[in-house]
Parts: sequence; structure tokens; C-alpha cells
Amino acid sequence: MYWLGIDIGTGGSRALLIDARGNVAAGFTAPHEEMRMERPMWAEQRPEDWWAAAQKATQGVLKEAGAKGDDVKAVGLSGQMHGLVLLDAANQVVRPSLIWCDQRSQPQVDYINQTVGKSNVVAHTANPMLTGFTLPKLLWVRDNEPANFEKARKVLLPKDYVRFMLTGVHATEVSDASGTGLLDVVTRRWSKPMIERLKLDASLLPEVKESVEVSGTISKAAAKATGLKEGTPVVGGAGDQAASGVGNGIVKPGLASCTIGTSGVVFAYLDRPQYDPLGRVHTFCHAVKGKWHVMGVTQGAGLSLQWFRNNFAQGSSYDELMAQARSAPPLSHGLYWLPYLMGERTPHLDAIARGGWIGLTAKHGRAEMIRALVEGVSYSLRDCLSVIEGMGVDAHSVRASGGGARSPFWRQMLADVFRRSVATLENTEGSAYGAALLALAGGGEYNSVEEVCAAAVREADSLIPGAHESAAYERGYEVFTVLYPTLKPVFGLIQQLA
Ligand code: XUL
Repeated sequence: MYWLGIDIGTGGSRALLIDARGNVAAGFTAPHEEMRMERPMWAEQRPEDWWAAAQKATQGVLKEAGAKGDDVKAVGLSGQMHGLVLLDAANQVVRPSLIWCDQRSQPQVDYINQTVGKSNVVAHTANPMLTGFTLPKLLWVRDNEPANFEKARKVLLPKDYVRFMLTGVHATEVSDASGTGLLDVVTRRWSKPMIERLKLDASLLPEVKESVEVSGTISKAAAKATGLKEGTPVVGGAGDQAASGVGNGIVKPGLASCTIGTSGVVFAYLDRPQYDPLGRVHTFCHAVKGKWHVMGVTQGAGLSLQWFRNNFAQGSSYDELMAQARSAPPLSHGLYWLPYLMGERTPHLDAIARGGWIGLTAKHGRAEMIRALVEGVSYSLRDCLSVIEGMGVDAHSVRASGGGARSPFWRQMLADVFRRSVATLENTEGSAYGAALLALAGGGEYNSVEEVCAAAVREADSLIPGAHESAAYERGYEVFTVLYPTLKPVFGLIQQLA
């Protein structure tokens, strides 16, 4: 018997089959189309492309494992958070999705703050409103494309669109719904005051489940499209970060993870909602019933490297780029990278911040530029960890995951920059693995997500900080933290002319 996790990421959709003990039987990734960026800081993807990739990944993983639909007991979903999917009355996609890193909605964030009141937004949703969240994106469509808004009958998140295609049910779950700006994160229900004050039709929103609850079953059409069996239960699942939290076993106090995908996230467990008074990190529902998490987000983590490769190193593998970075010394001869390619969330909450290298000299070459880039992203992740620890959250043990953490060089750098040991897990699958574990937890084999994690998630190794490198990065981090406040007025000027 197998349990299936499907993660709808930014770069691709990944399907993963696990057995009852949480061992991975097979995995298969189907890539997505590149995100469309019509203007700087805009980012869109087509939900239909996610569904096509999810079908391919599911067929692929079944084939790889030599399994039949019959062998899959339950399905769990995870996916990139915050994206806006609009469906019309015939359940057709109204327009491409504005995805998590799209930053066009600052006017709508301002409007929400004026209409609801900034402190009321925090009281109703546990978080300040941000351009990344789904609600301002929805209001952007209402303001700029009224005909599309009129057509919309349902608002879904990326993985929940795939859920709809699999089951015919409009539903979401608490962890992903937390990133919409419309969920009362404390009570784990849609916020009535937010909906009413903004004059939204409550029927636009799907039902909210807990992550391990069954949300629907595979339909006849989806069975044909994927190879799964009609009637197979699909559990709520989780936003990719909460799913990754489960996949990394971050289900008890003291544990934190650092996930480097397109975005970079430092994620810590909370057994009660706790907030940063400045709202620099998100306080969201965990995929564990009655629990929460806090996370800091670097918008352009893996994206920095991907952007570099796409534009300046086509044909090079990430391993080759990392090898080049390793050939330059720590601090890259005084070169710094600001990873704000899509604005920044933690700690700056600034949609118009811009990226770049600072400190270039004629001595610098490609190796230093790549190393500075990896160092800049690592400093930015340290910013995330610092805010979380500043809240008094215990995050002494950090586990690395995601594509970036596959590099031992980057993992060691995280240990050096964080000045603490960074562990890797036997299984580094992250979100897709978490989604599969949630399917396993929801299927009645185990009593709770915590029990599943205790059985399945094991640390493999732990890298300790090197004294020399840590001291160097400590000085580098001091410089890094001065760069953003110094450049902030410049970003304002650039924006005026953009
Ligand atoms: C989390 C976030 C990203 C996306 C894409 O708040 O926006 O991590 O989920 O992975």
C-alpha cells in the first residue's frame, strides 16, 4: 500500500509515493512553464499548466513504482502559497494566477489598511496585510479587471485548484488559507469582519478543512486522467511551507527548518499563536491540529541562483555554479548580494526593494559574484531566524531542506552564518514528503501528525559551524544589515521612474 503526496511548486509539480512507515518508494517531477513577468515585480502562472504537470507527475510516479491506482490509499496535496486562482460559474479559470511573489498590489494593501484599520487587520487575521497575500491580489482584479472579477465565483489557492480538478470539490485547509489575508488564524475560520468590511461575497471562499481531514475523493474523470482509483480520499494537505514543516518533522517546540526553494523560509513550531509586533514574520496555522507556526520569508532565495543561471550561465548545472562559488573566499573579497529580486518580506516588508551586487571592483569575477549571491541569501535567511528568535521562540535546532540545501557547501554556509549546527534529514523531499505524510496521518494508520513524524522523520547528519568562517560571516552580516536601510530611499526613487 502507498500514500501519495503531490506538491505544486513554482518550478514544477512533484509526486511522491511512500509506504506505511514513511519510506519513499518513488518520486517524479513534471516541470512548469516559466512564470510570466509582464512587468517588473509581476508574476503569473497558468493553473491549467499546474494541473497538466500534476497529472504527468502522478502518472509518472505510479509507473516508476510499478504501482496501480488501487495501491494508493490516500492523497495529500501541498503547493506554492498565496496565489490567486479565480473560477467562473462553469469552473473555468478566469485569468492566469497572480502567484506568491507578485508584488503589484500595494495600492490594494493600502486600501485594506484604510478600510479595515491596520491594527484591526492584525486583530482579525493575526498578520499585517502584505502584497504577497491573496486578498490584495483579489482586490487588484476587482479594481483593474472588473469584468474578470464579475465572472469569478470561487477563489482558490494553487494546490486547491488541483484538488478541484481531482475531486470536483472547492476546498482549502487552514495552513494555506492562513496566507490569504482572510483567515482568522487564531480560530482557524474565515474572518467575517474582513469579508464584511471589504464587501466581499462570502460564497467566493471555499470550505476550510484541517490538514489531515478528508476533503473529497478522486472523481471518475480524474481517475482516468491520473491513473489513481476513483473514490481514493484526498486529505486537506498544506501550503508548501507547512507541508515542508511536517516533512522535516517540525512538529514540536525547539525545532526549526530552513528551506531553500525558489523562496527561502525559516520555519518554527508554535503551540500557541505568537507574533512579531512588527509583523515581519508570518504567524500561520500549522498542518498539525490546534497548532501554529511562525515563518520568515526571503522572496528571492533559490530564485537568485536560478535568475543568475538563466541569464548568465545557461547550460551550467547548479553543482557547477556551487563549485565556482566555493573557489572564491568567504566574504567574496567584499562583494555583497541583496536578494530582493521580487521585493522582500522578512524583515523589510517592502514590495519595491530591489536586488543587486554592492561592492564590485575590477578584481571581482564570476566566482565571487556567485559566492556573494549564496552569502547574501544566507544572510537574508539569518534575518528571518533573528526575528523569530527575537520573539522568544525556541529554534535552537535547525534542519535544512529544499533544493538549495542539497548542496553541502550551502548547508555548511548556513551553519556558519547561523552560528549553530544545521542538520539534514535522511529524507530531504520537503513539501511533497510532508503532503504524503499528511495523507498517511489522515488515513487512520496513525493517531496524529506528530506520531507519523516520530515514525518517519530521522536526522542524517549535522554540520557544525566553523570558527573561522563564522567569525568572518559575522562581520559580513554586520555590513549586509546596513545595506538595505541605506539603499531604501534609492528604491523609492527607482520606483518613481519605473
Ligand atoms: C510562503 C511563500 C513561498 C511560496 C512558494 O509564504 O510565499 O514559500 O509558498 O514556495
